[in-house]
Amino acid sequence: MQIQPLIDLERRPWERRFANRAKNINASEIRDLFALLDNPEIISFAGGFPDANLFALPQFRDGYRKSLEDSPTTALQYCASEGYLPLRRWIADFMRRQNVVCSWENILITSGAQQAIEFLSRLFLEKGDPLAVAKPSYLGALQIFNAYEPDYRFFDGGGVSMPRSDTDKTRPLKFIYANPDFSNPTGETMDVMARKRLIALARANDAPLIEDGAYTSLRYEGDPLPTIMQLDIAESGSIETSLVVYCGSFSKTMTPGMRIGWICAASQLINKLTLLKQSSDLNSSTINQMVMHRVADEAFEASVNTSREVYRQRRDNLIEALEDHMPGNVTWRKPEGGMFVWLTLPEGIDTKALLAKAITQERVAFVPGRPFHADGTGGNTLRLCFSSCAPELAREGVRRLVRLIIAETAGSAAISQTSAASASL
Ligand SMILES: Cc1ncc(COP(=O)(O)O)c(C=O)c1O
Repeated sequence: MQIQPLIDLERRPWERRFANRAKNINASEIRDLFALLDNPEIISFAGGFPDANLFALPQFRDGYRKSLEDSPTTALQYCASEGYLPLRRWIADFMRRQNVVCSWENILITSGAQQAIEFLSRLFLEKGDPLAVAKPSYLGALQIFNAYEPDYRFFDGGGVSMPRSDTDKTRPLKFIYANPDFSNPTGETMDVMARKRLIALARANDAPLIEDGAYTSLRYEGDPLPTIMQLDIAESGSIETSLVVYCGSFSKTMTPGMRIGWICAASQLINKLTLLKQSSDLNSSTINQMVMHRVADEAFEASVNTSREVYRQRRDNLIEALEDHMPGNVTWRKPEGGMFVWLTLPEGIDTKALLAKAITQERVAFVPGRPFHADGTGGNTLRLCFSSCAPELAREGVRRLVRLIIAETAGSAAISQTSAASASL
């Protein structure tokens, strides 16, 4: 019998009982630092939160009151695992307004887009399966995928990196995950050609293509682009023959607090996913779905228009502050929508180490870029979220960040000069 070292049992008595698949579910290394963000002196560009002041509070208050008055027994009861029918119909309508030809039978209500990605991973992924993602990608999706130990492949602008060995060629991609509009974390948007290349890649591998549309409604300039799903339906003839699985959410447009998202896909897939929903949590909260239906029906357009206006100004303000103050060796692009600006710092600067100094010395926070990279690269990148930072604070936040980056760049230049000098001795 093997005797466990006492110290391990004392420190982590539960660890040895966990299933193998749980070993890749770990707290992020920066979690402890984010615990410090409650300090009101810290200016935070970190969490990707919508601004709570923009939530349609009177409509939600009214919605709960009316739902309880008009249909209390329905509101407080279980409901169908597929979701509350009027809300499924509303979402099918919303998808049709985005030129996705579908019916309510193509819609499954989920607990946010996060649960949608979790279900799809559970349904499709086996250990070691090739899975194509962008580099960088939404961290919350990578955390789900990691539990299944996939073999990551990377696409950039629609291409995908070559298989690593000949044997890999016998294993086609299991699925592709893309966040084409104002992506988290880079804020970038895939153009139509890139979308079509991803569809071609999906078809060549006969692989589902998951389109994460969490930010699609938050466009601040330029014409909306066709969703990948719309393009694929145009090619394949119908949603029933499309390989695209669209994940939507009310979190960034209405509120994340009610945890309502959806999957729009071929009805055969929706039927299978409904069984996963049933075995997972039976159904999403009935009253929340009823209220979201009322409020979305009444106020979605007006509410999203206000968010667009406010976030557009915050984006412009942040970009202006970066242009005014950032040193020339830091680069970024202006996003056409969404909530994020992605900075690339000079090689050699580690933004995780920088975050510790940012919080403790300058009282400003951001998210370091490495965790968004499934291959562990991207150490000199970071994400700024502009959605919930008022303009004056954001300007001050940028000034603090700039001080830190300039000090760090000077430090690392001094170090590399010293090491160059010592190497030549
Ligand atoms: C790209 C992306 N997809 C999905 C989600 C999950 O959103 P939800 O609140 O709908 O679960 C997020 C949340 O930040 C996100 O950024």
